[in-house]
Amino acid sequence: RPRVLSGIQPTADSFHLGNYLGAVRQWVGLQDDHDAFYFVPDLHAITVEHDPKTLAHRTRNAAAQLLALGLDPDRCTLFVQSHVPEHAQLAWVLGCLTGFGEASRMTQFKDKSAKQGSDRATVGLFTYPILQAADILLYQADRVPVGEDQRQHVELTRDLAQRFNSRFGRTFVVPEPYILTGAAKIQDLQDPSAKMSKSGSSPGGIVDLLDDPKASAKKIRSAVTDTEREVRYDPVAKPGVSNLLTIYAALTERKVSELEAEYAGRGYGDLKKDLADVVVEFTTPLAERVRLYLDDPAELDRILARGATRAREVSSATLAAVHDRIGFLPPT
Ligand code: TYM
Repeated sequence: RPRVLSGIQPTADSFHLGNYLGAVRQWVGLQDDHDAFYFVPDLHAITVEHDPKTLAHRTRNAAAQLLALGLDPDRCTLFVQSHVPEHAQLAWVLGCLTGFGEASRMTQFKDKSAKQGSDRATVGLFTYPILQAADILLYQADRVPVGEDQRQHVELTRDLAQRFNSRFGRTFVVPEPYILTGAAKIQDLQDPSAKMSKSGSSPGGIVDLLDDPKASAKKIRSAVTDTEREVRYDPVAKPGVSNLLTIYAALTERKVSELEAEYAGRGYGDLKKDLADVVVEFTTPLAERVRLYLDDPAELDRILARGATRAREVSSATLAAVHDRIGFLPPT
């Protein structure tokens, strides 16, 4: 079975609709016919200033959301990145193969460091994509299911895998990005020219899965559209309406064209009202399932411990091969 790997950061109290539709929804489906590894990258979460009091809670909360959304610990390996020390160890080796200029060209680093001011951006934020490459290559993943904003990081990962393989002999699988067309980029509801994002969106622009469903419904109903009335998918001319259609189609597993036909001759109000209902139906039971997992932290920790054990079986074998290839003296 082909192997997949992906991760989602514990940097907020809730995942948002973009995280789910762009990434996690695919992860759930891929468990059926893939050897799947999913993890919570807490090492990545400390590349920006964070509060130690909330990180552990957010890490458990991220795991609880993944389980509530449909990851099954009997069919996938679910773990926390810091429980598997090989990630940081391989990142060091890959960092020694990455050009300074190459790392400087990563657009997510450029965006995030510009936002913080370059004096405050950390070296960890700069080397973030190298750690992400280590995450992927340790597990010899064939596919990496992510949203569009992660494409460049997967490209860097491929470059590093090829470079290592050609310099030291074939060691890594060269992974493919697995990015859906359509839901790979869910836009901000208030500013449909920007992606929905934990750090960038205004509260009105982002639908958090664990928000009060009434508040989420209101955000959908207040989404920015345009001055026409026609419900039509056209991301260039009508980014707001197109974004709503994308979300609607993805959540109900219907085609955008079907929805266009259904709303032909009806206004945006109907579309928004119905989508608000769809979102409420999706999020209401979800919050309840997340709470069940969070109410039993011991069981959650057991699931994560089992995941880490399985993850280490794979990652330690890869790291040992890497150390051997690059000429490290084996420990006795
Ligand atoms: P993160 O935590 O920012 O986001 C998790 C996933 O959600 C996707 N996503 C979106 N998809 C569609 N529309 C949006 N508006 C939207 N916003 C976010 C992201 O593309 C991502 O797939 N660097 C990664 C975490 C990571 C990782 C990895 C991923 C660390 N190591 C190894 C894959 C493999 C990140 O920050 O994702």
